[in-house]
Amino acid sequence: MKLQASIFTLASAYFASAQESTRPGYNCHPTCIQPTIPRNRQFNFGRHYAVLNLDLINGIVGGVEETAAGQAFISNTANWIDAVHALDPAPLSIFTRVYFENSFQPEIGPDSPFGQVAGDLGTAATAPTKLHPAFTVDQAGAGNVVLQKTRYYAGAGNALEQILSTQKIDTVIMSGIRTSGVMLSTAYRLFDLDYNVYVIANNTIESPPNDPDINANILEGILPKLPVDVITIEQALAALDRSGPAIYGRNN
Ligand SMILES: *[C@@H]1O[C@H](CO)[C@@H](O)[C@H](O)[C@H]1NC(C)=O
Repeated sequence: MKLQASIFTLASAYFASAQESTRPGYNCHPTCIQPTIPRNRQFNFGRHYAVLNLDLINGIVGGVEETAAGQAFISNTANWIDAVHALDPAPLSIFTRVYFENSFQPEIGPDSPFGQVAGDLGTAATAPTKLHPAFTVDQAGAGNVVLQKTRYYAGAGNALEQILSTQKIDTVIMSGIRTSGVMLSTAYRLFDLDYNVYVIANNTIESPPNDPDINANILEGILPKLPVDVITIEQALAALDRSGPAIYGRNN
């Protein structure tokens, strides 16, 4: 419980400072990622795509928010989410949050390994488990989905796979924190479930410590080997523009 309080304090201190800081619009922190698709090749996401925005919660984003890399990550990810929101019809956007059902944290027993990394986050009501205010969510108007998750994988203990399959999604475009956690775990699983997976390099970050450059090693080394496509936000925005009207929900 002591740790929970410290994460909370950390997150609120960050809110205060984030408002004053100027956000760099450039993200090559600490390495400029070489995308898997050549920058001059035109591609699109089709019409059956979903946008996954993973674990953008105060308790995790707060840990990088004061760094230049963290601010670039936040501003790039927020810009991407806003660009997706500007589309009509709205594509399927899915956000995940890590939280536990009640203070007994029944999803993680005393010995669950995941409890060691996320056991301090708390229930849906606690500030660290809420989505960071930099990111816009529109559940009522745009049909955005917000899922609880209780392991690394974005679909652990929720309806993610059911939603992707009933909505006939074939392509997912991922952003989130952290690269070695939810991003890597979800890329592997959805790849195995036959989805076309894209990861937006600028919308990823590794929580500290990131030495050696874990973020770059995963984006440039591991993901391309699956293979999963790692693209820049510029490529993602251009592909979004070229994609047909998204098919989701009542548009089906
Ligand atoms: C996104 O990352 C690429 C390198 O991978 C960089 O060239 C580009 O400037 C970045 N874009 C923004 C808006 O940070």
